[in-house]
Amino acid sequence: MKMANSSIIPIKFLILVGLANICVSQDFDFFYFVQQWPGSSCDTKQGCCFPQTGKPASNFTVHGLWPNFNNGSFPSNCKSVENSFDESKMSDIVPRAETSWAAFSCPSKKKTNSTNSDNMKLWKHEWDKHGTCSHSVLHQHAYFDFTLNLKDHIDLLQILLNNGIKPDGKNYSVEKIRQVIKEATGFEAGIRCNTDASGNSQLNEIVLCVDKSAASRSFIECPILPDANCPDNVEFPIF
Ligand SMILES: *[C@@H]1O[C@H](CO)[C@@H](O)[C@H](O)[C@H]1NC(C)=O
Ligand SMILES: *[C@@H]1O[C@H](CO)[C@@H](O)[C@H](O)[C@H]1NC(C)=O
Ligand SMILES: *[C@@H]1O[C@H](CO)[C@@H](O)[C@H](O)[C@H]1NC(C)=O
Ligand SMILES: *[C@@H]1O[C@H](CO)[C@@H](O)[C@H](O)[C@H]1NC(C)=O
Repeated sequence: MKMANSSIIPIKFLILVGLANICVSQDFDFFYFVQQWPGSSCDTKQGCCFPQTGKPASNFTVHGLWPNFNNGSFPSNCKSVENSFDESKMSDIVPRAETSWAAFSCPSKKKTNSTNSDNMKLWKHEWDKHGTCSHSVLHQHAYFDFTLNLKDHIDLLQILLNNGIKPDGKNYSVEKIRQVIKEATGFEAGIRCNTDASGNSQLNEIVLCVDKSAASRSFIECPILPDANCPDNVEFPIF
């Protein structure tokens, strides 16, 4: 009897280890923290739209905090019953997010009455697509709070301004942008570009990496930099 019992234990143990492995492989390795320059959305062919509160400050805004794998791919839409977006958990987040995580895309539908509706749509989209995949580390409120704290901790615009890189519509060296961010933060940034309506390349997004534990201010060297699509010199549009 005793021997039979003891042979059961390792089997249970193996099953548990097996389940743990499945969970880990569906998890993620680190975060991309993505900030965007609103001027580079507004001068594109699609243009941009401002919320009813008016034109946001001339500053970078958060695009998102995206769980990613070390191999470059990323998990998305990890929706479940426990993590569906809850607007009521946003109430104390909204004032900060309106300033720092604004939606610039123009609404395709007529329903643009509520000041927040486009922002709320963006936040829900970011949560559904990306946030739900890091739900094991950050619940919805913590996810937005943590991301907004990251934004406040690294003032990208000030870093660039301190080094003579201004949103004045002139061309700047992408290497120089990368270098001054590295000097100020200690980390290599991913620089992403897009093109304006006349086809000029411009600074669109700046990506930093964050440890998956989401401990405060836990920036890390990116395990893999996001795709870069910038020529040597890019415009930094006026906004
Ligand atoms: C990348 O790694 C994740 C997690 O290990 C895995 O699920 C995914 O299939 C990998 N993707 C590629 C393209 O190798
Ligand atoms: C906004 O929507 C509310 C109902 O949702 C309506 O009562 C109000 O008249 C609308 N305001 C404008 C300016 O369209
Ligand atoms: C830009 O954003 C940073 C970080 O959130 C903030 O500290 C700074 O005051 C902002 N600058 C302006 C001009 O709004
Ligand atoms: C920036 O560089 C591009 C490519 O060389 C050029 O076409 C564009 O006119 C330049 N923009 C400014 C403002 O100098």
